Amino acid sequence: MPVMPKFSEVCPRYPLLYPKKKSIPNSAKQSQLVIYRQTQSAKNLQKILAMAATVPKVTISNGSQTMLLPVIGLGTATRPQVSETTKSAILDAIKIGYRHFDTAFIYGSEQPLGEAIAEAIKTGLIKSRDELFITSKLWCSFASPELVLPAIKTSLRNLQLDYLDLFLVHWPLKISGEVKRLPIPKETIFPIDIKAVWEVMEECQNLGLTKAIGVSNFSTRRLDELLSFAKIPPSVNQVEMSPLWQQKDLREFCQVKGIHITAYSPLGSRGAKWGDSESLEYKVLEEIAKAKGKTVAQVSLRWLYEQRVSFVPKSFNKDRMKQNLEIFDWSLTEEELNEISKLPQRRGVLPSMIMEPSDLVREIEAEI
Ligand code: A2P
Repeated sequence: MPVMPKFSEVCPRYPLLYPKKKSIPNSAKQSQLVIYRQTQSAKNLQKILAMAATVPKVTISNGSQTMLLPVIGLGTATRPQVSETTKSAILDAIKIGYRHFDTAFIYGSEQPLGEAIAEAIKTGLIKSRDELFITSKLWCSFASPELVLPAIKTSLRNLQLDYLDLFLVHWPLKISGEVKRLPIPKETIFPIDIKAVWEVMEECQNLGLTKAIGVSNFSTRRLDELLSFAKIPPSVNQVEMSPLWQQKDLREFCQVKGIHITAYSPLGSRGAKWGDSESLEYKVLEEIAKAKGKTVAQVSLRWLYEQRVSFVPKSFNKDRMKQNLEIFDWSLTEEELNEISKLPQRRGVLPSMIMEPSDLVREIEAEI
C-alpha cells in the first residue's frame, strides 16, 4: 500500500487548513462554517490523494536510471486549442488525481499546461512539480540537429519548467520552416537525419533538460535503425493504439527491446466515432461494457492497461476524466480479451490528414 503523505507535507500553504489567526471570525456561527469548510477541504484533498495513489505506475528506463510513469495521462491535443479551457481542464484533472500530462509544441497546449502547473503549486493542489510526469515533443520543424536544443528550451519556457520528464521526437520527419497551412505542403517535408537529431536529444538528457528521451510514430524498422547507433536508447515510443488499432507486432518488438509504449488516441479518437453504434467494433465493445456495467471508453482503456502500455486519453470533461480513471479495480475475462483481439482494425490518425501525401508520408503511414 502506498504511504499517504500528511496534509502538512502536501500543502503547507493551503489557506483553509492553515487559516491565519486573525482571519478566524469571532461569532460561533461563522467559526462553525470555517470548521465545516476545513473538513470539506480536507476530505476533498484526501480524495485527490487517494485517487492519485490508485493510478498504477510502470517502470521505464532512461538508459541509466529507472523512472515511474503513471499509466494514465491526460492528452491535451485538441482543436481549436482554447488556452483558458485547457488550463481549467488540466486543473480539474490534477484535482481528481491525474499526475501525467501529455503535450507537444504543435498542440499549443504547453502554455496552458505550464500555467495550470504553476497555479496547482501556488494553491497547494500539489507540493511541487516533481509530483508530475510531463511529456512534450520535438515538432518536425525543429527536427534538425541545430534546432533541437532551442526547441526544448522553448518548450520548457512555455511550460515554465526547468526540466521535462520525457521529450519525444514527434514524427520521423523533418519540415522546413513553420507550418503555415494544412495540409502541410509536400515540398516542405523531408526525411529526418535521425542519427544527428538523436545525438542532440541525448545531449538534452545529459544536460538535465529532460529526464528521458524517446520517439513517437516510429515503426519497428525505424526503431531498429535508431537502436543501432543510440548511446541512450529511446525509453518510450508513443503511437496510436486502441482496440481498433492494436499494434501487435510493434508491441512485441518493443517488449523485446525494452521500449515502453504509450498509446495516443486510446479511445480511437476520430476513428472510433463515438456514438457510431452501427459499427461492428463498437457493438462488440458495447456488449462487453454492458455485461460489466462499464462504458465502451472504460473497456477500451482497461484493454490497454492489460496490454501493459500507458495511455493518454484526451477529455476536458470532468465526469469523463473521472470515468477514465476508474478502470483499475476490475478486469476483462479471457473470453472478452479474445473477442477484442478479433476486432477488425482501422486507424484513426493518419499523417496524410495533416500532410500532403508525398512518397515519404505514404511510407511512414504504411509502416506504423
Ligand atoms: P471529451 O473531451 O468531450 O470528453 P482520444 O483520446 O482517443 O483521442 O479520444 C478523445 C475523444 O474521446 C474526445 O472527443 C473526448 O471528448 C472523447 N472521450 C474521452 N473520454 C471519453 C469517455 N469516457 N467517454 C466518451 N468519450 C470520451
